[in-house]
Amino acid sequence: MNDWRFDVPTTGTKHLPPDARYVEALSSQGYAFEVAVADLIDNSIDAGARDVVVHFLRDGPRLVSLLVVDDGCGMNEGQLDVAMTVGGRRTYEESSLGMFGTGLKSASLSHAEAVTVVSTTKTTRSVGRRWTMEGARSNFQCDVVDPDYAQSLVDRYYDKPILWHGTIVRWDAVKDFPSTGDSRQTDMYLNRVFNKLGLHLGLHLHRFLERDDFNITIAVEDVRSRNVYMQFGVGPLNPFAHPVSGHRDYPRRFTAPVEGVGDVQLEAAVWPPKSSKTEFKAVGTVMNKQGFYFYRNDRLVQAGGWNGFRQPEQHLALARVAVELPSKHNDVFRLTVKKSGVETSPAFADSLEKATDDEGREFGQYLKDAQDAYRRGSKRAGGVQRPETLPPGEGLAPAVREAIETELPMKWGDPVSVLWEELDQNVFFDIDRETSTVILNSRFREAVLGDRKRALDDAPLIKTLTYLLLNKLFESERPSAKQRDHIQMLQSILAAAAHAELGHVAESET
Ligand SMILES: Nc1ncnc2c1ncn2[C@@H]1O[C@H](COP(=O)(O)OP(=O)(O)OP(=O)(O)O)[C@@H](O)[C@H]1O
Ligand SMILES: [Mg+2]
Repeated sequence: MNDWRFDVPTTGTKHLPPDARYVEALSSQGYAFEVAVADLIDNSIDAGARDVVVHFLRDGPRLVSLLVVDDGCGMNEGQLDVAMTVGGRRTYEESSLGMFGTGLKSASLSHAEAVTVVSTTKTTRSVGRRWTMEGARSNFQCDVVDPDYAQSLVDRYYDKPILWHGTIVRWDAVKDFPSTGDSRQTDMYLNRVFNKLGLHLGLHLHRFLERDDFNITIAVEDVRSRNVYMQFGVGPLNPFAHPVSGHRDYPRRFTAPVEGVGDVQLEAAVWPPKSSKTEFKAVGTVMNKQGFYFYRNDRLVQAGGWNGFRQPEQHLALARVAVELPSKHNDVFRLTVKKSGVETSPAFADSLEKATDDEGREFGQYLKDAQDAYRRGSKRAGGVQRPETLPPGEGLAPAVREAIETELPMKWGDPVSVLWEELDQNVFFDIDRETSTVILNSRFREAVLGDRKRALDDAPLIKTLTYLLLNKLFESERPSAKQRDHIQMLQSILAAAAHAELGHVAESET
């Protein structure tokens, strides 16, 4: 007998709201620093801001706070309470970037122990609220900021407070900041983080930054002297800004009929081979910058990747497809809260099989054309074709990996890593086929590094040479007799060289 009930019988309901402990989960969404800052700027854009300033506040050698200041419409007290409430906002304009009502809280508390929001509108005085992790944990107790302080913070950033409207978000005890009081460390951190922020914001918000009336400035401010330095305006980084197309038939617009959503526009482009433009190079690696660039309301929400439609491959390195997502929530394209990725249901892949342009050309043809453009481009002068090579893996510096991937066509397979590990003193290297790793004997590590620090990607020259010399060995399951002999030969010569290196160091020390 079939006793399965298709409906589950219930007897009533109970109110079970989340416990305040939920804040821990909310603040552990794995936001990268630049992704979290972008989330705040999304809110500024939604508030109609024309200028957004990201200030790193520095007290001598130490970084103390991060401020995101915008000249958007601002919020009155009631609106600020809704803004600070997790999931507080319920309705949105069709064009707004926000959709979950959690970004501000989740992004901020992922990176700071406390977030203070101060806001003022054309008609209301400055008001402020603060979430501390502690307050949030103890039953969502949000602090009310002293209105005088709120006003003074606003005055600090604006010369004409009467005319001003806008919002300041302040992060304190930022986890990403270096904890040392060492000025040099702080400078190094700032250089790195400025670069990261510039690239991320430039890329994901490029359509806004291309407009004349929208700017993002990043700067460091000394809290005591109020000097501002390292100031720079974020420039747009348009992943489709190729100077010439890599294929004369492109870019081309395809329409994909997505079931349950309707027609979705795809703008398919082919980059010219070996472009050195930042717009091409700075966006991920060769393997992950190809594919779909999803935009929602002009904001890039995913930069590259094929979403399971196919595997990334070297031959598609020039293919980039801008996909305009519907702004309404739907089941085919699901955004993550961080808006740094799109999950697609099979309906999307199905629609690509049916996608055509207005001349009836199929989307599949585009992929072939992009591959052709790559093949033509990878032919060297005199028709020389470079051999396909296994991709570089761990242990090699990112710049080296990029150079290898640019210069050599990549073979599909496990990347070859080059790592240190202690081996018998008579050998310089070993081969681990299981993990596709060349192991360098760490007994010689210091001799190679000198005074430089050990790091995962240290000794770039030695490792690159080893990779170039040995990567072919990983192409087959088992080495041929010839290869075994070749390894034997390299082993003896390199061991002699390594010992000479050691001897040399010992001599120069005395
Ligand atoms: N800089 C700002 N200026 C004006 N209003 C803001 C600002 N930042 C946040 N808000 C208000 O607070 C609300 C909540 O922001 P929050 O980022 O938490 O969620 P959201 O933007 O609604 O959705 P999402 O979770 O998708 O980001 C916003 O909808 C907006 O009304
Ligand atoms: Mg938001």
